[in-house]
Amino acid sequence: MYPIISPSILSADFGHLQRDCEMLNQSAADWFHIDIMDGVFVPNLSFGFPVLKSIQAVAQKPLDVHLMIVDPDRYLETFQQHGAWQISVHYEACPHLHRTIQKIKSLGVKAGVALNPHSPVSLLKDIIADLDLVILMSVNPGFGGQKFIEHTYAKTSELKDLIVKQAANCLIEIDGGVNGPNASRLIAAGADALVAGNFVFSSPNPTATIAELKNIR
Ligand code: DX5
Ligand code: ZN
Repeated sequence: MYPIISPSILSADFGHLQRDCEMLNQSAADWFHIDIMDGVFVPNLSFGFPVLKSIQAVAQKPLDVHLMIVDPDRYLETFQQHGAWQISVHYEACPHLHRTIQKIKSLGVKAGVALNPHSPVSLLKDIIADLDLVILMSVNPGFGGQKFIEHTYAKTSELKDLIVKQAANCLIEIDGGVNGPNASRLIAAGADALVAGNFVFSSPNPTATIAELKNIR
């Protein structure tokens, strides 16, 4: 099985956003990873609805939206209206996670949960059966281009075990510091989808780099 590749728009050139989106359309990428940061849940701001609207107008692949914001319930409907195909919220930002997940699903959108590096996989035991996706953060969220946290391999295996044990229909996505050298080990540990920002967009040939990731088994 080939991994799902979800390049992160955060590392694109926002002065040439249309060009970079068209490059992704033509590439082996499966999804567009959309990082939304509010400057409260994470120490950085990324972009909001006007930029997302421009992406939506060009993107020909599903929008994989990763919300690094507090109280995401306020905006779920608006993200759906802006073309979100999948929305992931952070475990650490949702006191009523079950309700939030049901709300995402009621909008006809796939529902995911992202886990920060310090949050154990066991926290998902009572919600995993309701999820389409778990994002394991392999960096502390907030910035592209950070160093991959090695403990993610063990967490990926542990999450895979939990999914198999409950016969859940849930994919595992790894987000942060993913590159050629660590991708194969992540896939071997059970990862289904890989986010890549810096590795793709700082490459001299992003299309070839996406193809390289796609062909890793
Ligand atoms: C981190 C974001 C990531 C990030 C990935 O807060 O959620 O999606 O953009 O970028 P790289 O691959 O550069 O770590
Ligand atoms: Zn992300």
